[in-house]
Amino acid sequence: MASYYEIEGGKPLEGHIRVSGAKNAATKQIVASLLTEEECLLRNVPRIGDTKVTLDICKSVGLQYTWSGYEDLILCTPQITTPEVPVAFSGLNRIPILLLGPLIHRYGKAVIPMLGGCNIGERPVDFHIQALEALGAKVVFEEDRYFAIADQLHGAIIELPFPSVGATENILLSAVMAKGTTFIKNAATEPEIIDLVMMLQKMGAIIYVDVDRTIVIEGVSKLYAAKHTVINDRIEAASFGIAAVITGGNVIVEGAKQAHMLTFLNRLRQVGGGFEILDRGIRFYHPGTSLKPIAIETDVHPGFMTDWQQPFVMLMTQIDGLSVLHETVYENRFGYTDELRRMGAEIQLYKQCLGERPCRFRNRDYEHSCVVKGPTPLQAADITIPDLRAGFSYLIAAAVAKGVSQVRGIQYVERGYSNILEKFQELNANICQRQDDSVKIN
Ligand code: EPU
Repeated sequence: MASYYEIEGGKPLEGHIRVSGAKNAATKQIVASLLTEEECLLRNVPRIGDTKVTLDICKSVGLQYTWSGYEDLILCTPQITTPEVPVAFSGLNRIPILLLGPLIHRYGKAVIPMLGGCNIGERPVDFHIQALEALGAKVVFEEDRYFAIADQLHGAIIELPFPSVGATENILLSAVMAKGTTFIKNAATEPEIIDLVMMLQKMGAIIYVDVDRTIVIEGVSKLYAAKHTVINDRIEAASFGIAAVITGGNVIVEGAKQAHMLTFLNRLRQVGGGFEILDRGIRFYHPGTSLKPIAIETDVHPGFMTDWQQPFVMLMTQIDGLSVLHETVYENRFGYTDELRRMGAEIQLYKQCLGERPCRFRNRDYEHSCVVKGPTPLQAADITIPDLRAGFSYLIAAAVAKGVSQVRGIQYVERGYSNILEKFQELNANICQRQDDSVKIN
């Protein structure tokens, strides 16, 4: 039976919560542990749906793991038991493709089901496959599965057409034990990638990150045990920051790291949102004066993250004037605005690039820019979450709206945010989880 959140809006969020480890770092590091038969300890791993799916995927090829305490994971893969990730994992998340390199290194071949993840665009994997081929693998796609084979991967010079996070990670995980040196040009350099590099270096890898988006990997023949603490989730931190500002509240997000959120904080300051950097995190608050409109473009790091876009659009609905958001990373990431419009938001989508520069989606028939007219009072509604990051912005919308909203499709938020219900409750939100007619948690 499906459960949903019920939220009565209009209450400022107040208090403090501790941000969890980053989903998009932890899941990749679990995969990295497959590269050694020795034991790895990962700390600060978020207890979320995506972690569980990733552990199940890796377990299916031989990973043995135990939780030690609430957020520490002991990972060990003495032997790869099969190079095939079962088709049952198709469609669940973006992780299976990252197993290609580790499985090839340890087994000589890999069979991976089709990918999944949020429905926010086409999300092809051509960069991944071309990179693996450049590193010497033979890859075939047949009956919804990728078959890859190689006796030994070798170094290569790979220039990515776009600084893809997943493709950069895939090359790192494949080149780290390849014979010779690999250059990734136009690499993604998100903090989550640097965190993966740090874990790999602890395991024995040799990896340089140059200032010009070039990553150089000198292949090594063996990797070893390592202990690593996953960086905190800058998407979750920013989302709670906006939840505080938009509800007129005051929230300390413990563990939020200024260094990973510079662009977000600059944008928040430009609209007039309040924040204060503390030793233990960042305090976010509404300054009491009206907020100013803004034009933002999403970009790869160090630009404004595409995953900050959804809560920021929510904020724009409460800003006085016209704000603009140009999404340049995914072609189809505004589907969630339909439900916000039903709640009273005035959001108009455009196929044009409404930004400083044209992006890859120019003249390609995608609604990838939006104009938001604010401030608009929002009315409670029965809404259904379409994807993970949209999910958080729906919780914010319901927390701001007048009346009681039902937010459905909560499996999406639970995939990516640890203890989200409890965190909203800690901040005094009027939120509970319901199943049919009965209250489950309050
Ligand atoms: N792309 C290609 N070909 C490829 C790979 C990517 O055309 O082979 C395109 C994509 O279609 C997209 C762009 O390149 O338009 C960027 O994709 P990227 O590979 O960087 O994204 P990803 O690795 O699939 C990760 C995060 C996303 C986050 C993006 C951008 C994970 C599991 N996912 O996706 O996070 O938005 O990087 O930072 O790490 C989320 O957490 O909700 C989420 C969607």
